[in-house]
Amino acid sequence: MNKTKTILKPLFYRRKPRRSLSLLQKNLLKFNLKNFLFDKKKIKKKKKFLEIGFGYGENIINLAKKNPKKVIIGCEVYEPGITNLLKNIEKENLKNILIFPKNIFILLNKLEQNSIEKIFILYPDPWPKKKHYKRRLITKVFVNKISQILKKKGIIHIFTDSEDYLKKILAEFLSKKKFLWMDKKIEKCNKRPNELIKSKYEKKADIKGNKKYYLKFKKIC
Ligand SMILES: C[S@@+](CC[C@H](N)C(=O)[O-])C[C@H]1O[C@@H](n2cnc3c(N)ncnc32)[C@H](O)[C@@H]1O
Repeated sequence: MNKTKTILKPLFYRRKPRRSLSLLQKNLLKFNLKNFLFDKKKIKKKKKFLEIGFGYGENIINLAKKNPKKVIIGCEVYEPGITNLLKNIEKENLKNILIFPKNIFILLNKLEQNSIEKIFILYPDPWPKKKHYKRRLITKVFVNKISQILKKKGIIHIFTDSEDYLKKILAEFLSKKKFLWMDKKIEKCNKRPNELIKSKYEKKADIKGNKKYYLKFKKIC
């Protein structure tokens, strides 16, 4: 198997937008995106956060406003979400956001080891059907990759409303001696960290009455 295929092996499943993109959205992708594209040369010495699967980008905006000296890298493949983020970057006149509009596994191979202070993964697609479990983002391979790019003492926040996925996420992180589960007990994972706001997915989970879990891990070695 050649190298490219190995890197991309954990494939992702792209949600198709329900509607085709409007002219405004197409223009945002064509003209604005290039000003915010991830370029590792630009951010070598800067402190960096990474959000994976940012959806409509409300937390990236929130993090960028609260941390003006840090660079917030956002990775997302869903085009309506990317265009929404671009619109809000312009509205808020933010200069510290970079976007990687492709599969996270490509970005994980570009980022330097021990370079990211915090990683946010808010409600990764739960893929509730057993036959679709293999589509889930958080796997052994994924956890290995993020353990490499995260700095020592770096933090990972993962939110989910799927009990089944929760078990899988905990199993993957706890099997790796590099991480400490900060809350240690499921009962203590019910408070959203202050630095994060409710995302679109979380608001929908609230409407459905789903129980939400806020997980926090620290890289200890
Ligand atoms: C359930 S949504 C949650 C979105 C957002 N974090 C929120 O809380 O509203 C999961 C997002 O992850 C993105 N995603 C899934 N796999 C991905 C991958 N391999 N690379 C980049 N983004 C991915 C999807 O496009 C989707 O927008």
